[in-house]
Amino acid sequence: MKLLNNPNLTVLVLGDIVGRIGRNAVIRNCRFLKEKYHADLLIVNGENATHGNGLIYKQYLDLVNAGVDCITMGNHIYGKKEILEYAKDANRLVVPANLENLEDELKNNVSFEQIVNNVRVKVINLLGIANINLAVKSPFIAFKEIYEADPEPIYIVDYHAELTAEKNSFGYELDGRASLMFGTHTHVQTADERIMPEGMAYISDVGMCGVRESVIGFDYQEVKKVMWEGGSYSVAMKGKGMLNGLVVTIDTTTKKATSIERINIDVE
Ligand SMILES: [Fe+2]
Ligand SMILES: [Fe+2]
Repeated sequence: MKLLNNPNLTVLVLGDIVGRIGRNAVIRNCRFLKEKYHADLLIVNGENATHGNGLIYKQYLDLVNAGVDCITMGNHIYGKKEILEYAKDANRLVVPANLENLEDELKNNVSFEQIVNNVRVKVINLLGIANINLAVKSPFIAFKEIYEADPEPIYIVDYHAELTAEKNSFGYELDGRASLMFGTHTHVQTADERIMPEGMAYISDVGMCGVRESVIGFDYQEVKKVMWEGGSYSVAMKGKGMLNGLVVTIDTTTKKATSIERINIDVE
């Protein structure tokens, strides 16, 4: 008897992990979620995983050992400088491909590839333009160059950007070439998930994994004080956790998405 290839690729995405409560929420629940949704690939955004800013190697390994397949980053890429030392050993780490003057140590981490159900799947991370405060190349040009150099794989794009309109327009730019674009960076989940006209699954922002009663993962009482008095605030270290994410099914023969479902779960 010949086994038929499974034509579907199921991708589970979890939004920006913020601090310890976010990390633990992912680490303790990701195998269960992968099984529940029959996910072939689990992608998380890890740019705020280490105390809200960057990602150290130990915590990269903790996430990978827990079952995370791919960790994308964002504007906090250099939040922990040790990334420059460990990136060569971190083949599941994906850094923004359109950062100007990307450090040489990170140049092999601009994409992640995995064969799933006999097809190549490629994950890339691109920074947006508005309010990012880093020198970036146009994400439109960057994606065009990456895609035209290698149009074969199924593309999954983490578009790490601030503005919903910018994310919308980049979505229409990618639709027909990528199979999934998920936004990250605002830490607030949007309710506009859909399959675009040419078959790409889309959401403006998947949200975050961190403390629910917080200001995008940071201590809300400290943030309120800062609004009145100035000063600084830190990652929320107490309170119930939440997991925000997305499950997408892609037909690997057509490269088009067939379903998209938002996840917003409370975690003890
Ligand atoms: Fe973030
Ligand atoms: Fe960010």
